[in-house]
Amino acid sequence: MIQVSRGTPALILAPMEGVTDAPMRALMAERGGFSFCVSEFFRISQDVPYARTIAQHVPELANRSRTPSGVPIQIQFLGGDAFKLAEAAVRAVSVGACAIDLNFGCPAPTVNRNDGGATLLKYPHRIREIVSAVRAALPATIPVSAKLRLGWEAVDDIHQNADMAAEGGASWITIHGRTKTQGYTPPAYWDPIGEVRGRLAIPVVANGEIWTLDDFRRCRDATGSEHFMLGRSALANPALVHQIARELGMISPAPASTDWYTLLERFAVLCEPYADNPQYTLCRMKQWLRMASNRHEISWVSSVRTQQTLEEFFTAVRAAISVSGPAPIQ
Ligand SMILES: Cc1cc2nc3c(=O)[nH]c(=O)nc-3n(C[C@H](O)[C@H](O)[C@H](O)COP(=O)(O)O)c2cc1C
Repeated sequence: MIQVSRGTPALILAPMEGVTDAPMRALMAERGGFSFCVSEFFRISQDVPYARTIAQHVPELANRSRTPSGVPIQIQFLGGDAFKLAEAAVRAVSVGACAIDLNFGCPAPTVNRNDGGATLLKYPHRIREIVSAVRAALPATIPVSAKLRLGWEAVDDIHQNADMAAEGGASWITIHGRTKTQGYTPPAYWDPIGEVRGRLAIPVVANGEIWTLDDFRRCRDATGSEHFMLGRSALANPALVHQIARELGMISPAPASTDWYTLLERFAVLCEPYADNPQYTLCRMKQWLRMASNRHEISWVSSVRTQQTLEEFFTAVRAAISVSGPAPIQ
């Protein structure tokens, strides 16, 4: 159901903690273009969570690990204890997970201090140990992938870390083209991704700083990859995934809605499970507009930033749009 394989291009919605939650995954999925989505990370530290806790974290698991529109979801785990991660993966599969991703890239200091995320990039043999423990615990039909940064500090560390993930049995790896110390500062370095892709037998997904169709073409040229993961740009420019999908020869029907008002309204509907906490939906929409307006001119954003309720927010968006005209996405 989820597979990344040679000859079949894949476009993947990146995991983004606090951003690509279930409603956002549902929205991005129903608009088409993405092959599958990866969940925000689930951190495994002390006790291995109960299966029902895992199911709450990724509500799609109850729907055969699919969004309401049928796009598959891969659950991501983060941690440093191979045994606990393997047990968590087994429990996730028992409640419907169809593929597991392992996070070796998170740069958050609290995560890294607690032996998780990018910290593991300093210990290549532990990457192999974790991937192989999770792989061994699951049926062969469940893919296990690893998401890596280029290294902790040194770009070249990607080679050993990627080799270890492959040796551990990863079905594919995703490489975010930056080290942990580079954080999110542009540029992303795509060439090392291409070097790894050229050497390894398993598929390599390229990730980082693909904001435009032109970026995508340059990333494809640099990496030689046919698999790509989009994070911030998927939200900043919801039309981009379709442009890239077309370029990759994937079938990508034109989405029904192409303006911000319709998108926001639909997102609010998909946030229905959070209806008892309307501030959640409001914060998420403001966050989304902030991300989009950081990259693209959206003239009316400042006029909706201060609204305190969903009603006020939508009234302000409508008013702003009636003055400035329709608000097409980029
Ligand atoms: C707010 C935010 C949250 C993120 N959370 C995760 C996460 O939970 N798991 C993960 O593997 N990567 C996470 N990432 C990294 C992204 O998946 C991606 O690798 C990174 O943003 C680079 O891709 P982009 O330039 O397309 O955004 C996060 C990034 C951002 C900006």
